Amino acid sequence: MAPTHILGISAFYHDSAACLLRDGEIVAAAQEERFTRKKGDAAFPARAIEYCLGTGGIRADELTLVGFYDKPLLKFERILETYLGIAPRGVKSFLKAAPVWLKEKLHTDRQLHDALGFDGQILYAEHHESHAASAFFPSPFEEAAILTMDGVGEWATASFGIGRGNEIQLLKEIHWPDSLGLLYSAFTYYTGFKVNSGEYKVMGLAPYGEPKYVDAIYRELIDLREDGSFRLHQEYFNYLAGLTMTNGAFDRLFGGPPRVPESKLTQREMDLARSVQVVCEEIVLRMARTVHRDTGMENLCLAGGVALNCVANGRLLREGPFKRLWIQPAAGDAGGALGVAQLVWHRHCGAPRRVTPGQDGMRGAYLGPEFSPAEIEEALGAQGAVYERVSRDALLKRVAALLAQEKIVGWFDGRMEFGPRALGARSILGDPRSPRMQAQMNIKIKFREGFRPFAPSVLRERVSDYFELDGDSPYMLLVAPVKQERQIPMTREQRGLWGIDQLNVVRSDIPAVTHIDYSARIQTVDRATNPNYYDLIAEFERLTGCGVIVNTSFNVRGEPIVCTPADAYQCFMRTHIDYLVVGPFLLDKAAQPAWKETADWKREFQLD
Ligand SMILES: [Fe+2]
Repeated sequence: MAPTHILGISAFYHDSAACLLRDGEIVAAAQEERFTRKKGDAAFPARAIEYCLGTGGIRADELTLVGFYDKPLLKFERILETYLGIAPRGVKSFLKAAPVWLKEKLHTDRQLHDALGFDGQILYAEHHESHAASAFFPSPFEEAAILTMDGVGEWATASFGIGRGNEIQLLKEIHWPDSLGLLYSAFTYYTGFKVNSGEYKVMGLAPYGEPKYVDAIYRELIDLREDGSFRLHQEYFNYLAGLTMTNGAFDRLFGGPPRVPESKLTQREMDLARSVQVVCEEIVLRMARTVHRDTGMENLCLAGGVALNCVANGRLLREGPFKRLWIQPAAGDAGGALGVAQLVWHRHCGAPRRVTPGQDGMRGAYLGPEFSPAEIEEALGAQGAVYERVSRDALLKRVAALLAQEKIVGWFDGRMEFGPRALGARSILGDPRSPRMQAQMNIKIKFREGFRPFAPSVLRERVSDYFELDGDSPYMLLVAPVKQERQIPMTREQRGLWGIDQLNVVRSDIPAVTHIDYSARIQTVDRATNPNYYDLIAEFERLTGCGVIVNTSFNVRGEPIVCTPADAYQCFMRTHIDYLVVGPFLLDKAAQPAWKETADWKREFQLD
């Protein structure tokens, strides 16, 4: 019998993506931004679809079914009712939003057929069902509770339910405009970061601050109930009526206007970040207790943008009622493409689900494009690059030695990651023992704020030697403390430092990945999913005694993670990365011809 091919699509909101299943197995998944080089690209994911079909070796007309990750009409109804409900206050923003909706979003069916060249059936899932499916179906659990939390889909902003075998059932929802994701985004906006991508920065900034505004948030912004459900007091928010997140009442409550983006960060933003993070964690914990009580499950699966809050996830694992936690690595809307495809396969096609205990169905999230040595060589040649081909063992030894000399290495190997984190396929690597590494990598490599923390990749078997964690965290979605005996207590003088001044204090024997609160955002590396990356860290350990390396995504601030060898070479040449590995090739920055920068790129990143 011919195999069943299902294409899942997520598009038109933010971070469009595509995913292809063959008889339920994930063949390929990727975000459109990686191909178009527009961060969070929300356009129809033509390039991602082309990549998925190419990897599956099929044409669009050979697809069995197509799934779309939300219901455009339901979403339109929510938008319409919102605007009508508050007219005329919302008219201006409606006028701006409406033509896009009318043109693109209502005509999804015809548009999908035309754009795809596919005449078959297109099935639509509800937004939170797509998230729930992406959380449960690839999980390593036979049965589990499911919790999804994000900004907003159609009406639901959070939902929970049960997954069992090949079925998922959602039991309860929280509805727009009460949204944990939007509450967090309001503070992201107010502290001067970009909504939908800056939430990560707020989380990273939080440990520098004091939870000064927690009382004000509970008193004025939110009615939080014991069961984790809540209401937001809309008079402080502007996302219903306007094009911003917060309004004058919000400004008065927190003592001033929003921070101007890119202006200097002050203690106030740090205190605001800490406060909203504390409230977010409390809501997540209360919701989880309710979900546990109502479902009686031991396992919990998470998805939705809020599930990328790895600090909250770490607390949920340590303090929450569930024994085991699994988080979809593409927890944001990109993952909806994968979720809807699996929903079509299991619900519509009625296909059974096979679970391998202790192993999830994501293949380490290495679901994107890969390049053969011949393709890489051609791409490097076209860039005029100077490179050397090295055997695998020699390459691992040389890279480990370079890292031990505090060199910064761009590491491009195998299939690109699906989801927002780089996991050792498109990563920039460094030595975590170096006290200079964090500032150096932030400022000279990523051109970004010095406070941004870096994450450790650690050999799976060695995780509990370095961190207060004894389990898997393959997708860098859990934060846990650095092991007590590795921590270096602060002196009295150091404890007196405030905010960003605390950054340069050495806090452990792996200072480059120890956040100021002694925590770390951990990636455990398994030999089965990424043997080259695993063996590189093992080689570094043989050389230095340290089984951890610094792993940050291979990009500069504001750009998507690199996808192709050409992207990698350009990023290498535009930054102070010392060496680049692309597949079997090693490149030394000092040997490269001079790089001529384009005027556009210089302007964008305000260089020289
Ligand atoms: Fe979502």
